[in-house]
Amino acid sequence: MNTEVETQIELQDLEPSNNRFRAEILRGLRKMPKELPSKYLYDEKGSQWFDRITQLEEYYPTRTEARIMEADIQEMTDLIGTDALLVEYGSGSSVKTRILLDHLKDPAGYVPIDISRDYLMISAAQISKEYPDLEVLPLCADYTLSFDIPKPNKPAKKRVVYYPGSTIGNFDPIPAQHFLEEIATVCGPGGALMIGVDLKKMPVVLHNAYNDHEGVTAAFNLNLLERINRELKGDFQIENFKHYALYNPIKGRIEMHIISLMDQTVHIDGVSIPIANGESIWTESSYKYNLQEFAELAETAGFQVDHVWTDDRDWFSVQYLTVI
Ligand code: AVI
Repeated sequence: MNTEVETQIELQDLEPSNNRFRAEILRGLRKMPKELPSKYLYDEKGSQWFDRITQLEEYYPTRTEARIMEADIQEMTDLIGTDALLVEYGSGSSVKTRILLDHLKDPAGYVPIDISRDYLMISAAQISKEYPDLEVLPLCADYTLSFDIPKPNKPAKKRVVYYPGSTIGNFDPIPAQHFLEEIATVCGPGGALMIGVDLKKMPVVLHNAYNDHEGVTAAFNLNLLERINRELKGDFQIENFKHYALYNPIKGRIEMHIISLMDQTVHIDGVSIPIANGESIWTESSYKYNLQEFAELAETAGFQVDHVWTDDRDWFSVQYLTVI
């Protein structure tokens, strides 16, 4: 389905159906331990909460990545070169993208891909207004599934996928490898991936980043239950659950959970789900890498690391990978 929005912007709409959402939620809640796919954290409300997370004092990744981009943008855009089609996975509000777009030389077009249709359309329309010479081709899709990249009017010399924010960390290692393989196919020969990767560091820094004192991360996490109530006729009593996030140094990942504060039974679209006092619903993992670990992952997926930029504290990295 194509939806015309705002005169010149045409949306390719592959938003996951309500049936898929229902099936994946019920499947996850029947598992032991219970888990919910983290991609469903990002409805319009969840994306707004996430935007607030990125502005938190404790949440260093967004700020640090933006600083790296600002400091090294010349080198980055020199590597990308002219006439590239920039494809952004999980574009959200596209804040860091503007740093790239401000410096890219004659891009062939910009394809922002996001799972949240309304949010995507607002930010695509905004980008199109700010960059009137740029062809913007938004695609609403679950980017972990396969899809075709829209073709720009101007022929592209290469495709460069931009995947900032260390969202790769939200995949377990094997799915991360498969996903990077898929991106290598989308990039094609001569193509590249510019990716943000969060690095291993002191656990206390990580703990604070996912347990902010204002409770924004907690609201972001619990919004998933509210979303189920809104969209799947659920009856979660939100006050009977609590956000819980911890860093597991053996696995090298943040684990984000929702803990039940009592024995209770919730109903989703007529299906009963018993949940015990203290039981967890695992909603997200956020893996942290060292440079060697990530280079190995990239290489198994068909990329070679061409360039790595980091900040002074080596807390975050932006990496330019080319298809082998
Ligand atoms: C989107 N993703 C990279 C964020 C992260 O840090 O893993 C999501 C997030 N979850 C809680 N805070 C931020």
